[in-house]
Amino acid sequence: MKKICLLLALAGCVAVPVHAEGNISAKQSEVMKKLLVTYADKAKQEVKEEKGRGTVSDKAFTADAGRKFYLVRRTWQSGDFTCSGCHTEDPRKEGRHITTKMPIKPLAPSANPERFTDIHKVEANFTAHCMDLHERDCRAHEKGNLIAYLMSVK
Ligand code: HEC
Repeated sequence: MKKICLLLALAGCVAVPVHAEGNISAKQSEVMKKLLVTYADKAKQEVKEEKGRGTVSDKAFTADAGRKFYLVRRTWQSGDFTCSGCHTEDPRKEGRHITTKMPIKPLAPSANPERFTDIHKVEANFTAHCMDLHERDCRAHEKGNLIAYLMSVK
């Protein structure tokens, strides 16, 4: 309980200055904080279950780690994939689907009020895109770091 409160306080620290600038709506802030708490719990569980395998972590989420994850390049099936390949290196910008070439509205909540307003949509997209890129769902710490990063982009 104490840790969850601490985490909420931390999430508040990230969200409050952004909020004050009016970049992120109350709804976006609520959904993203909820996701941070969920992923923090899940990260602990993953570490407990998969101790020693090296791909799990329950360290505090950071925007830096989230940015690295967003930019990491993975080559498979003779393709070169990154999250930023479709969502662009600056998530405030409009993206373009690498295969269909269809435009994709900005991923950063500060640049797109529709993002991160529906937990189920976020989860479904996370899972689908992680499968595309890493051939597995992303770990809770990867998702938490990414949320922390996107919340920090103003
Ligand atoms: C092949 C192109 C492509 C790649 C690569 C890609 N995405 Fe996406 N992403 C999309 C499209 C298309 C949407 C849906 C846009 C819409 O519905 O507005 C989307 C939406 C999302 C959303 C939904 C946010 C919301 O609330 O609307 C999240 C989260 C997301 N992507 C995360 C990621 C992450 C993390 C990665 C890297 C692991 C990634 N994406 C890689 C194309 C891509």
